Amino acid sequence: MRLHTSPASPFGRKVAVVLHETGLWPKVERRDASLTPLAPDAAVCAANPLGKIPCLELDDGSALYDSRVICEYLDGLHDGPKLFPPSGPARFAALGLQALADGILDTAVGLRYETFLRPESLRWREWIAAQKAKIDRALDRLELECEGFAERVDIGTLAIACALGYLDFRFAADRWREGRPRLAVWEERIARRPSLLATRPS
Ligand code: BEZ
Repeated sequence: MRLHTSPASPFGRKVAVVLHETGLWPKVERRDASLTPLAPDAAVCAANPLGKIPCLELDDGSALYDSRVICEYLDGLHDGPKLFPPSGPARFAALGLQALADGILDTAVGLRYETFLRPESLRWREWIAAQKAKIDRALDRLELECEGFAERVDIGTLAIACALGYLDFRFAADRWREGRPRLAVWEERIARRPSLLATRPS
């Protein structure tokens, strides 16, 4: 299998974390792509018409995307503890948390492009403020709920750790920990997992 990804991509990081947690890295060749929405990567576009990473090419020539599909596929390839609970409330708790994390990341990556790629004179301040408010609401919800995560390690909690890591990486000045002491403590603990230490964005 071949994984198109990037060391800065938070969705690529989520897949890398799953590869670490499941011991599947030896089965995957990693290809780092350098791309933006304005400068797509030809090899990524050949595998994924959306031109987005992460994208996992399988040995039969087919390709999987997005990160949610790739992570669940990988979780089916190993015999260890499952990151996607198979059914019931635990499954929907994990999937719901992953959706919240991915929503934070979709918003944060959009903001990154808006503030980094778009010329300053063309930036839309109200849109930027609305996106930041969306992230703040999601973080406030996590502050209320994170004590219930306890020692849970599943696709939901790992995705949240990746989302918070991306905020530290690209939006450190926004200081998400301020006013969210419980989430800060929870993040500090989960960030010590080898899978998260080995995949810090760069
Ligand atoms: C970033 O540099 O922040 C980034 C890179 C790839 C995908 C998404 C974000």
